[in-house]
Amino acid sequence: MSKRRILVTAALPYANGPIHLGHLVEYIQTDIWVRFQKIRGHHCIFLCADDTHGTAIMIRARNEGRSEEEVIAEASEDHQRDFAGFHISFDNYGSTHSEENREICGEIWNSIRQAGLVTEKDVEQLFDAEQGTFLADRFVRGTCPNCKAEDQPGDNCSKCGTTYGTADLIDPVSTLSGTKPEVRTAKHLFIELEQLHDFLDEWTQSGDHLQPEVANYLKGHFLGDPDSEEGSKPLRDWDISRPAPYFGFEIPDSPGNYWYVWFDAPIGYIASTKQWCEKNGENLADWWRSDDTEIHHFLGKDITYFHTLFWPGLLETSRSISPALFLREQTWISTGRH
Ligand code: MF3
Ligand code: ZN
Repeated sequence: MSKRRILVTAALPYANGPIHLGHLVEYIQTDIWVRFQKIRGHHCIFLCADDTHGTAIMIRARNEGRSEEEVIAEASEDHQRDFAGFHISFDNYGSTHSEENREICGEIWNSIRQAGLVTEKDVEQLFDAEQGTFLADRFVRGTCPNCKAEDQPGDNCSKCGTTYGTADLIDPVSTLSGTKPEVRTAKHLFIELEQLHDFLDEWTQSGDHLQPEVANYLKGHFLGDPDSEEGSKPLRDWDISRPAPYFGFEIPDSPGNYWYVWFDAPIGYIASTKQWCEKNGENLADWWRSDDTEIHHFLGKDITYFHTLFWPGLLETSRSISPALFLREQTWISTGRH
């Protein structure tokens, strides 16, 4: 049997909460699979990292009167202690708030710009003037515009199930300050995923990368079917930036704007591999750029489209624009989580 080179990742846990049993189902299953490959003599490495950016961490740091760096350092320690307690052994445990990650985000971003996928649009969002921050859905509550139930979350009504935008809520209240937020407009950067539609059809439907159930889910919910009467569905532009204040990496060519946490999170897989390579005298290219390497991402169903539309889209674009950086083969393996 020839020795395979296998790179395995498990989804990066958020730094704003502890590891719970739902997480452990995924990490333990993945760990078992990795141990099996290692015992068979394959060259297999298992990578993870904390997912550290976003509004939630920023707000928490503010409430606790300390820096975001302190909050995420504590989370990383707690997470690694808990993983070790369950004998989950990663070859490297990184952080999305690392210099390696910032650098690779920049390289991938340049490819996307060069490929002509980035556009700018104005976005209306609720703004908490007292806290000086835009409000993500979960920081707003108000009256449902449909059934008029009071004290409903910012994205959908728990009484009648209607989904809406935060700006549609009647009498919205910021959960951060209890004040009434105002509507403000800010510039956001978007990735035009529709330009990658043909690639994503091929990549998701070819049978090589995904389980059939996942391929069908993507076709049904996002891509559509070019051979059906309804035809293919256009993919929505992906809102990839957030205006300050935000805890993340500032976009080098768009000062005052930060990459949305879901842009830099999966890039953390590569950054964690890079750290492992540096510690072990290995070459990153052998793992992310070689035809001989298999890449297996283990993740929960709820984050499928991030890993099967956005992620291959980012990697394919960097592959075609900067051949120095790209993904070879990807297999999605489902496990229960969340
Ligand atoms: N933090 C995310 C979650 O818990 C998972 C991020 S996976 C990554 O749902 F690939 F994007 F990093
Ligand atoms: Zn309702």
